[in-house]
Amino acid sequence: MQTETRIKNTGLRGITVADSKISFIDGENGILIYRGYRIEDLAVQSSFVETAYLLLNGSLPDKEELAGFDAELVKARALPDFILASLKHWPQQADPMDVLQASVPMLAMTDPDLHDESREANGRMAIRLIARLPAVVAAWHRIRQGLEPIPADPQLPHAANFLYQLHGSKPNPEAAHELDVCLLLHADHTFNASTFACREVVSTRAHMYAGVAAGVGALSGSLHGGANARVVKMIHELEGETDLAGWVKARLDKGDRIMGMGHAVYKTTDPRAIILKKASEKLGKQAGNESWYKLLSQIEEIAVKEFESRGKTTIKPNVDFYSGSVYHMLGIPTDLMTPMFAIARIAGWCAHIIEEKFAEAQGKPALYRPEAEYVGDYCGPIGCEYHPLDSRQ
Ligand SMILES: CC(C)(COP(=O)(O)OP(=O)(O)OC[C@H]1O[C@@H](n2cnc3c(N)ncnc32)[C@H](O)[C@@H]1OP(=O)(O)O)[C@@H](O)C(=O)NCCC(=O)NCCS
Repeated sequence: MQTETRIKNTGLRGITVADSKISFIDGENGILIYRGYRIEDLAVQSSFVETAYLLLNGSLPDKEELAGFDAELVKARALPDFILASLKHWPQQADPMDVLQASVPMLAMTDPDLHDESREANGRMAIRLIARLPAVVAAWHRIRQGLEPIPADPQLPHAANFLYQLHGSKPNPEAAHELDVCLLLHADHTFNASTFACREVVSTRAHMYAGVAAGVGALSGSLHGGANARVVKMIHELEGETDLAGWVKARLDKGDRIMGMGHAVYKTTDPRAIILKKASEKLGKQAGNESWYKLLSQIEEIAVKEFESRGKTTIKPNVDFYSGSVYHMLGIPTDLMTPMFAIARIAGWCAHIIEEKFAEAQGKPALYRPEAEYVGDYCGPIGCEYHPLDSRQ
């Protein structure tokens, strides 16, 4: 008897669709590796810019290579004037993720490398995207408040410059460092939905910007990039709540989820959550306001115990559990938290787009073309009888 393998409508869980040399997750043991390096080592010793170089080029840069890469990023920060002029006409209440997604093809329009299909040209486009997505987010936040966008400061490093362009004042170096670590931790995560969307689009030989626009769209969904903002919503709901254990129980009894917990791949604590928890505590201490950190730590402890008592021993904090509190301490508004994810993940998206386009991990590029099982009407090979409009009941 033939047994049927039912793989459809399972979100491709467990299906390996490609080879990749970019990142690796060991979900059982809570390990995340970029190009061979443990995320914990990179978070302590590297920077977002160096990590972006690593992801794009496959190896760590030497001093000269890093300085050159950084200089290219700094040079690419300014947005084309027509984009700034255009943003000023967009509705103030627009969702920042829609603004970001709409800006990506606009950035394509002036990219001199758009029709150059070489790897070098794609590397240069990646640099422009990594430099400019933060500029779009910062400019939009200012424009929607009726403020003028702030030109980039070439003296400031990547993360510090973003905070400067967002807030209009130079951030303290510790705060900028924590943001840099946050960006590094979110820079790549294997074949997540948005990365797969990027790769699928460019497998048609569409340009890098078309792939990135798809990635931003995929990230905007609440099951992907939107979870950190929902953790912040949960924190607001819980302000003043005295019975946290009762709240957790009631929520789970109702079948509701605790945001920022559980993961499709990690069956233990997400390694990024461990680092972000420390960042949340550190920023809280610096600001003399540890309330969010303390509340989240309490919920974590209570929820993990409660899950265990219900036989669910693998539901632990994921990257989103503490990242919202870190962004909040950095003065980043809740609706910019998913765009923050995008300005970090752009490094991974571009690395994956290049790997896909140039078949850097497999024999040759291949257009993604899966199949679906047809379960609709079928009247045999001659087709159903077509009734002209006038004769239909
Ligand atoms: C991320 C997520 C979708 C991964 O889930 P998954 O591994 O695919 O597993 P499922 O969604 O099938 O959940 C498995 C079981 O655990 C439960 N579960 C998983 N995460 C949960 C959470 N955060 N709160 C409560 N229950 C949870 C599910 O209800 C399900 O229970 P059931 O078997 O009784 O129906 C899920 O953990 C979740 O929704 N988390 C909250 C949202 C979030 O933080 N997303 C960001 C991910 S980085």
